[in-house]
Amino acid sequence: MNGQWIKEAFHDTLPEDFHGGVRWQSPSNIALVKYWGKKGQQLPQNPSVSFTLSQCRTETTAFFEKSDRFGLHFRFEGRENAEFQTKIRDFLMAQQDCFPFIQQLDFHINSRNSFPHSSGIASSASSMSALVMCLLEIERLAKGEKNIDLRKASYFARLASGSACRSVFPKMALWGATESFQGSADEYAVPLETAMAPVFRTYHDSILIVSDAKKAVSSRAGHALMETNPYAATRYAVARNDVAELLEALRSGDLTTFMRIVESEAMQLHALMMCSNPPFLLMHPNTLRIINAIRDFRGETDIPVCFTLDAGPNVHLLYPEQHAELVERFIMDELERYCAGGQWIADRVGDGPFKC
Ligand code: PMV
Repeated sequence: MNGQWIKEAFHDTLPEDFHGGVRWQSPSNIALVKYWGKKGQQLPQNPSVSFTLSQCRTETTAFFEKSDRFGLHFRFEGRENAEFQTKIRDFLMAQQDCFPFIQQLDFHINSRNSFPHSSGIASSASSMSALVMCLLEIERLAKGEKNIDLRKASYFARLASGSACRSVFPKMALWGATESFQGSADEYAVPLETAMAPVFRTYHDSILIVSDAKKAVSSRAGHALMETNPYAATRYAVARNDVAELLEALRSGDLTTFMRIVESEAMQLHALMMCSNPPFLLMHPNTLRIINAIRDFRGETDIPVCFTLDAGPNVHLLYPEQHAELVERFIMDELERYCAGGQWIADRVGDGPFKC
């Protein structure tokens, strides 16, 4: 696939006065079937499915001007940030075969998140997809093309940060080859927007911030531990099956199956962490209190609200729009007390990246 982009790459010398600025916002996404375990060059061991979010976004502005060599000056929320600068530099350097114009530009890149930095929400999906949208926008300007190819954006977002490849599509995305979906691939995500029942298009995701501490184990280290996890092969087979069943539930609007798979996937992700070598635990006592309260609430009210977890202690409550008022009251009355500083984010399914 890299070969295709190298063939299509813009190899010309940029005009001496080539300069400008591009700005993109791109959202985070929450996986329903989890990607946990990779192979090769950022390829997933199993397919995954996610909701694209709306409120949790990164805005990236890239100013560029013609130069005799590559340069990068990066600021995150107004300040220099050596860790992010290195990540971005490494990514841009690694993509020079496909984007040779990188060597002819001096970049000033500024980035900021719409969600609090200390919310424990991983920003790599939103930040890396926003960066890739900016890069493709600059390429579009250099080539004088009309549109950005989202499949290409997804491909490069994946190389920047695995699950970021799912953030470029509106509503929902599927990443990873599966027989259950024609056109699916390991190299990039595909949109699921036309394969979902109306109820999911406006789904809510209330993100309960149980702890705002930085993650104890990075997802890079977590993926690596799957290489020696004794349950890995079983996990990948179960995930493949979960994707097939979930895709069917998404098409038909079957909320019971949806909730069963989504909660099982969250539990499996954390179970895999607990049986890694060495084992690790990213849940917090309040994570369990919230899960139990959600299950009680669902039992008492019959409201189809379920939870999922990312690689951390925060809990995502997923529910249809029509129940938003009652679920938000429940969060304020019963769950806010378990959140760090009472913080939670009222997010929902969103429309993907946009240019601003
Ligand atoms: O994209 P990464 O390498 O940060 O891995 C993401 C892993 C999970 O968030 C736990 C699951 C997922 O599919 O998003």
